[in-house]
Amino acid sequence: ASNISGSVDSVFLYITVLCAIALLGITASLVYFVVKYNRKRHPQGEDIEGNTWLEITWTVIPAALFMVMFVYGWTNFTYMREVPREALVIEVTGRQWAWSFKYPNGKQTSDLYLAVDRPVKLELRSPDVIHGFFIPAFRIKQDVVPGRYSKVWFEATEPGEYDLFCAEYCGTSHSDMLAHVVVHPPGEFEKWLDQASNFLETMSPVDAGRKLFQVRGCQQCHSMDGSAKTGPTLLGIFGRVENTAGGGAVTADENYIRQSILEPNAVVVAGFEPVMPTYQGRLSDQEIAAIIEYLKAPEGASGQE
Ligand code: CUA
Repeated sequence: ASNISGSVDSVFLYITVLCAIALLGITASLVYFVVKYNRKRHPQGEDIEGNTWLEITWTVIPAALFMVMFVYGWTNFTYMREVPREALVIEVTGRQWAWSFKYPNGKQTSDLYLAVDRPVKLELRSPDVIHGFFIPAFRIKQDVVPGRYSKVWFEATEPGEYDLFCAEYCGTSHSDMLAHVVVHPPGEFEKWLDQASNFLETMSPVDAGRKLFQVRGCQQCHSMDGSAKTGPTLLGIFGRVENTAGGGAVTADENYIRQSILEPNAVVVAGFEPVMPTYQGRLSDQEIAAIIEYLKAPEGASGQE
C-alpha cells in the first residue's frame, strides 16, 4: 500500500525466480552428469582440454542475468534513498518498548498518522538499543540504531489501517512493541492533526488523561484490567498501598504517580524490574495532571474503557 511496494515486490520476485531457476538448473545437471558418467559405465575417463565457446556462454549469460539483478535493485534502492523535498518530516523514536511519533507542530502520538498520496520522511532514532522499524504493507523496514539517525521515505497509497512492528529483538517486551499506521483519506489528516493537538483544551482532564494513557505508550506496560504486564496494573491504583522493592511501602497518591512518571526507578513496586524510561521532558505538567485525573477517576480506576 505504498509507492515503493510494487518495485520492492518485483525486485524480490526477480531475484527469487532467477535464483530458483539457477539452483534447479545446476542441481539437475549435476545429478544428470553423475548418473550419465558413472565410473561403472565409463571405466576409462576421457581427457577433455576445454571448450572455449561453452565456457564463454555459461559465464556471459548468468553474468548478464545477475547484473540485471544488481542494476534493478540499485535503481530502486537509490529511489528509496532520495527523499523528495516536499516530504512531511515526522520524527520517530523507538525505545524499549514503544514507538513514538512527533509531527512538525510538536504533537506526539504512539501510532503513526499519515495523509494518503503525500510523501513523508521519517527520521528514526533510538535512545537505548537497536529496534527494527517495519511496516510490512508498505515494504518498509529500517534498523533504528542508537547514536545515529536513520531515515526512510514513502508515500502511502491506500487509506486504511496497517500494522507496524519492531523487527529486531530488543528485550523483554519486544513482542509488545507494536503500533498502527493510520492513513487518512485526502483532507482528513490536517483535520486530525488539528484536533489531536488541541485535545487538552477541548476534552475533560479525565478524557484527556485516558487518551494520553493510550497514545503515549503507558498501556504497553501497564494494564487497566488487573493483569500484570512489564509494569504493575494501574487498575485501582489510586490510593493503593504498594510494597516497594526496597522493602518499604508507598501509597500511590498524586505525588507518587507524578514521581513514577518523571523518575520511574526512584521507588519501584516489589516484584517488578526498574525498566521504565523517564517521561521527563516528554510530558508537560498539564499532561501529567490529566493522567493523574484519569487514574483517580472511578471509571479510569475500574478499567472500563
Ligand atoms: Cu524494539 Cu524489538
